Order: sequence, then C-alpha cells, then structure tokens
Amino acid sequence: MTKHIGVLTSGGDAPGMNAAIRSVVLAAEYYGYEVTGFLHGYNGLINDESLRLKESIVRGIISQGGTILKSARCAEFTSVEGVTSATKTLVNHNIDCLIVIGGDGSFKGMQWLNKHWSGQLLGIPGTIDNDVDGTDFTIGYSTAVNTCIDAIDKIRDTADAFERIFLVEVMGRHSGFIAMNVGIATAAEQVLTFETHQDPQQELNNIVEHITACKAKRGNSSYIIVVAEHLWPGGIENLAKTLSEQAEIDCQPCILGYIQRGGRPVGKDRTLATRMGVSAVSAIETGSTMKMLAEQNNQMVMVDIDDAVLHKKTVNAELLDAQNNILDIVKLTQSNIL
Ligand code: F6P
Repeated sequence: MTKHIGVLTSGGDAPGMNAAIRSVVLAAEYYGYEVTGFLHGYNGLINDESLRLKESIVRGIISQGGTILKSARCAEFTSVEGVTSATKTLVNHNIDCLIVIGGDGSFKGMQWLNKHWSGQLLGIPGTIDNDVDGTDFTIGYSTAVNTCIDAIDKIRDTADAFERIFLVEVMGRHSGFIAMNVGIATAAEQVLTFETHQDPQQELNNIVEHITACKAKRGNSSYIIVVAEHLWPGGIENLAKTLSEQAEIDCQPCILGYIQRGGRPVGKDRTLATRMGVSAVSAIETGSTMKMLAEQNNQMVMVDIDDAVLHKKTVNAELLDAQNNILDIVKLTQSNIL
C-alpha cells in the first residue's frame, strides 16, 4: 500500500544530513511511497512549511554539508498548542510515518509528539556530538572530527614555529567524544573533557605540572591542550588568563566554533546516512514505531527511542586510558631524567 512519509532535520545541523534525506527519498521511491520534507525542524510542522521531495530534488546533495530542509531548535513545539498544530499538519498531509533526523533533543520531541499523534515515528541520529546512546556513530561526527584534526594540524604548525602553547576549544555540548578523539589524533599534549574533569584548581595544578615537565624534557616547544566546550568556567579565555596570572604561562586561546558543523561529509558519514535512510524506510513496512536506526559493531539495528534518550552515552574508558598513558609517558620520562 502506498504510504506517505514525512521527513525533517532538527537541532544542530550535521554533515551527512543531506545524504540521509536523499537516501530516504530514493528508498521511498523504490517502495512506491511519497515523501514530504518539513522545513526548519519541528517549526515546519507547526507552521505547515513543506516541500514534496523526489529524486530530482535530492540529486547531487550527498556531498553537501548543512541540510536542504533547514534546521532549528523549536521551544514552541514543547507546548500543547505547538504540538497540536504539528499534529494537524501531519493529519492534513496524510502522513503515515515521520522520520526525524537529529540528536537527543529532537528525539525528546518525538516522545512528545507520540503522545499526540498515532502515526509511525522513526529517528535517524544526526549530530556532530556523537552523544546519542545506542549507536556507535551519529551522522556528522566523523566529518567534524576530521575538520578539527585539519584545523589543529594547522595550529600545530604555527605553534611549532613560535614554540607556543595553544588552548583549542572544540564542540560536543556536554560530551567529550570530539575532544577525546581529536586530542588523540592530533597528539595534543592534554585533553580536558567532562569525562576526566576534576576540581578546577586540581586540574590547573595538573596542567601546570605537565607543561613544566614537558618544558624540562623538550625545552620550548609547541604544546596543545584540546578543551571541550562548556567545560572550563568562563571558557578557554578565562583558562588562559588564569594560567598567565597563577603560573606565568602564556597561551593562545582558539575556539574552533561552527566550522566544525559545516563542510562536505566524509565517506563514513555519507555511507552511514545512506544505510540509515534505507533501513528507516524499510522499517515502515513492518510497522515499527518509536525506534531509532543505529550502527552497532558495523551492523544496522533499531533501538527504542526511549532507551536512546534515557541513557547518557559515555566515551570509551580505553580511549581515556590511552590519552592518560601518553601523558604519563612524558612525566615518567621526565622523572627518569631527574
Ligand atoms: O549539538 C551540536 C552542537 O553543535 C553542539 O556541539 C553545540 O554545543 C551546539 O550544537 C551549538 O548549538 P547552537 O547552534 O544552537 O549554538
């Protein structure tokens, strides 16, 4: 039976969202389903802003960052009025299944919508933060990590030339996936993330101790500290000021910011997005609802949206150990010298 699919992108955009939209549209055409895209996240449901999607519209978008459906966060949707208008739009368009591409905030929106609308709801995890539980990877994360690596490699060049210390802030909202992986991949001398964060004064003492140990071992040299956003009170400018005032250590703060959300998706994100889009459309036939498509051990699976939202996904402890062991090597080598 012909079905009508709605699709929207919500929350922070992520490279690969377009690839997911394309995949939904192509798979839907294969099954003989129709697809309507709603614009500006959940706002598109509230305000009935939509566009009919077909192959000719999604042709060529697999390589584009951002999202052709636009994205937004939508506080209005959390009100009864907001969700009621959204439901009316879905009914007026005869939507059987809505596919939401976004992060955990967008999935909370699905839980809310599910209380007011009886159609099928499927989620595709798209966020650079990789902080959605139940899936090994979210769409956009791999591209963001590569973007940061590229930027920090460049910072390393100038840091080497001037033998300077840099504090580099990366995104991640409240999780350290980007910070930890980028830190390891750029050989950052330190990574400050939520997973390892201690009392700020203790953290400060550790930073100073490590910088001092490095200086004694290598002399003046480049030194990079990757810092997760929202971690340090007052941000990395404040950390730089404190280091200068308390330990006479001069460092340059550098916030990578929104460049992390843009750009052409890397292969991993294009493939992941395509697999998730196809799997979401094929799940419609089976009547699945309130499920999220996920990659686990390289397999495409479905997990309950409620579970994905309930649990906080944490950075693999082995990664944290790897970074700590590298830090300790510098300290140990230093104590051997002394
Ligand atoms: O969730 C993706 C993300 O880019 C986070 O890393 C960041 O904290 C947040 O979005 C920024 O949100 P906004 O675009 O609303 O400033």
